[in-house]
Amino acid sequence: KEQKPALPYLKGKKVLITAGPTRETIDPVRFLSNRSSGKTGFALAQAAQDQGADVTLVSGPVQLDTPPGVKRIDVVSAKEMWEVVVPLFSEVDLAIKTAAVADYTPKETFRHKVKKSDEDLYIKMERTRDILAELGARKNKQILVGFAAETKNLNQYAEAKIKEKNLDMIVANNVNDTGVGFASDDNQITILRRDHELVKSDKKGKEELAYFLLEEIQPLFEGEDA
Ligand code: CTP
Ligand code: CA
Repeated sequence: KEQKPALPYLKGKKVLITAGPTRETIDPVRFLSNRSSGKTGFALAQAAQDQGADVTLVSGPVQLDTPPGVKRIDVVSAKEMWEVVVPLFSEVDLAIKTAAVADYTPKETFRHKVKKSDEDLYIKMERTRDILAELGARKNKQILVGFAAETKNLNQYAEAKIKEKNLDMIVANNVNDTGVGFASDDNQITILRRDHELVKSDKKGKEELAYFLLEEIQPLFEGEDA
């Protein structure tokens, strides 16, 4: 495997990464989720750890091995992810939120398996809380990187999210083209940085993409004390 040049800014940095989907329970045998595989977040955790960072990975349910040396905390629902991530944030230097967090959760969870009937079934959903926006509101010294999954108007939505959530960088993912983005090994992305730099990346493997993103984060630390 080709050795990438060192990124000294990461050495000893505390890095928090979230990854994967969340699952929102409907009844004891059913849940709502999404197509996120967690691969981008796990690749980032591995790449940051390889660069000497102290990495904590908060993951939804995925089928991936924990990168060596990375501290992994598993969660299931959006609410659990909030409860783990928000308290950790104050201690970190860098937080990267790749997780595909559910925006809605069933307003009530059925205690017993829902039986079918001849009627249509309606499940009332309520909004979850936006973890990334909360981190943006609490941010003091941390560098905060968000992701955006879009199927249209990628740049406009990404620009809105970087402002609204007080981010330093957003990685916009076009999940429209089948095979790119969610649940795939390749990822075609557009990066928008608070310094207004807009970078497009070609389709690369997720490992290469992870290294590329860490390179793009580096300028955000410049001008800060080590
Ligand atoms: N996010 C979060 N908590 C939520 C929802 C989203 O932390 N409850 C984070 C994701 O981890 C991601 C970013 O917000 O880093 C953008 O997620 P995305 O779904 O693209 O945007 P939303 O703000 O949820 O808006 P919408 O789904 O309507 O596009
Ligand atoms: Ca969302």
